[in-house]
Amino acid sequence: MPEAPDGAKFYAANCVSCHGMSGKGDGPLAPTLDAAPTNLTLLARKNGGSFPRARALSYVYGHPEQRELTRDMPQFGGSMAHDTVPVEINGVLTPTPRELAGLLIYIESIQR
Ligand code: HEC
Repeated sequence: MPEAPDGAKFYAANCVSCHGMSGKGDGPLAPTLDAAPTNLTLLARKNGGSFPRARALSYVYGHPEQRELTRDMPQFGGSMAHDTVPVEINGVLTPTPRELAGLLIYIESIQR
């Protein structure tokens, strides 16, 4: 299984530009976007104290809800469906791209 440090690498390469080093949404590209990048350290707090795994994963993978189709954030799922690991999502072991599984663990680890 991938671990938080694997996810941290993926995060540094793909997410820091908008969400910032700390995940608070203050990356260098943030001022150029129409929508402010979400503060990723508050996802659990905004979800009643439990980290919203399914929502975070599907958002990053790229199945945005209808209202978010015009979002600024890119989708990351496209090229990675070949190498999956089982991740528990809402109690169900779900095949998840390895990079995203590590990423999820990393983001979960930076919740405040
Ligand atoms: C080009 C800038 C950009 C990049 C790169 C980016 N994001 Fe985002 N992200 C956003 C913006 C802006 C939002 C706010 C909603 C929207 O408009 O898309 C957001 C929202 C989110 C959300 C919140 C979804 C929710 O529940 O509302 C998560 C989780 C997230 N990003 C994770 C990531 C991760 C992980 C990466 C790297 C794999 C990443 N983002 C890369 C700009 C970006």
